[in-house]
Amino acid sequence: MKIIVAGGAGYIGSHVVFELIDQGHDVTIFDDMSLGSEKNIDPRANFVKGSTMAESDLDSVCQDRFDCMLHFAAWKAAGESMTNPGKYAKNNLNGTINLINACDRYDIEYFIFSSSAAVYGMPEYLPLDEMHPLNPGNYYGATKLMVEKNLKWFSDLKGMKYASLRYFNAAGYDVQGRITGLEKNPQNLIPIIMEVACGIRNDMQVFGNDYSTEDGTGVRDYIHVNDLAVAHVNALDYLVNNKKNLLVNLGTGKGHSVRSVIEKTEEVTGKAVKFKVVDRRNGDPDTIIAISKLANDLMNWIPTHSDLDTLIRSTWQVYKEYVR
Ligand code: WQD
Repeated sequence: MKIIVAGGAGYIGSHVVFELIDQGHDVTIFDDMSLGSEKNIDPRANFVKGSTMAESDLDSVCQDRFDCMLHFAAWKAAGESMTNPGKYAKNNLNGTINLINACDRYDIEYFIFSSSAAVYGMPEYLPLDEMHPLNPGNYYGATKLMVEKNLKWFSDLKGMKYASLRYFNAAGYDVQGRITGLEKNPQNLIPIIMEVACGIRNDMQVFGNDYSTEDGTGVRDYIHVNDLAVAHVNALDYLVNNKKNLLVNLGTGKGHSVRSVIEKTEEVTGKAVKFKVVDRRNGDPDTIIAISKLANDLMNWIPTHSDLDTLIRSTWQVYKEYVR
C-alpha cells in the first residue's frame, strides 16, 4: 500500500518506516525535521519536508494518493506540556486536525495514531487494560485523549477507519542498527541514562526512591521500538481486513524500576551512571504496567525484543559512538 508517515524521521516514526518498507509497502516520510534526524531516514522511502501546521504542505504532498496515514508528529514531553500547554495544543491538536482533514480531502481511508498510556493517568488498578478510566494527569496525555475522541467522530461522520495505539514506555533502537539518530534534548529515562553513560551529561536525577515498589524507584513498562513497529504493520492489516476501528495498549506486562535500568546500563556499558536522588516528579505514579491481551488477540501481536537486556544493548549500540 501507499503510505504517508507524518513524523517518519523521528525516533518511533523512523522505526515504523523501516518495518513498513521491509513488509513491502511504498512509504513517503513527511517531516518538518524539528525533532527528526537525517540519520533516521530510510533511504528506500520518499522524503518530503513539510509541516502539519501548513495545510498547503499537506495539500501538496497529498497530491500523491495514499491509502493510509500514520501519525507520529507530536511533542511527547509530559513535563513540558504542563509548563507550555500552548506548544502542545498547537502541534498535537491543531497539527493532528490538519492531518485528519487532509485525509478527508484526499480520501485517505486509514489513519494510525500513536497514542499513549498517558491517557489513563494515575492507575486505579494494574495492569492497565483498555477499559481503565481515562483521566490524564498531564496536558500531553490530554492532547492524546482529545485526538482519540476526534478520530472517533471523523470515523462516524466521514467513514475513515483508524487505529489508536496506546504505547507504554517506548525504548531501545533498531536491533539491525539501521537507525542512529539521537533524540534531541531527551526527557525520558533511558536516553537520559545513556547520555550520562557516554559523557554527554555529567549526571542525572532519580525522581524519588520512596515509591511503593521493590526498590523504591518508579516502575514502568518499557516496549522496544521494533516491537512497536511490528504492531503498526499488524494494525494496518487489521484495519484493511476487518474495516473496523482498533484501540489497543502496546506494552509487555512486565515492569522495570529506574534503579534496575541504571544497573543494567552499567552492566552492559561498563560505564558508571552518576545519579542523585531528588524529590518525586509531580504526577508520577509508582508503577505503570500494561496488559496487551487485546493487541495479541486482535492482531496477533507479541513483543519479542522488549526484554531489558535487548532494550539497553540496542540503545548502547547507538550511544557508544558518541562517548566523550
Ligand atoms: C520513566 C521513569 C520517572 C527521567 C512519559 C509519558 C508517556 C510516554 C513515556 C510518550 C519514571 C523516572 C525519568 C529522569 C527519572 N511518552 N525518571 N529521572 O513519565 O513514565 O512517561 O514518557 O508516549 O506518555 O508520560 O516516562 O521516561 O519520563 O520516566 O527518575 O531523568 O523514570 O520518574 O519513574 P514516563 P519517563
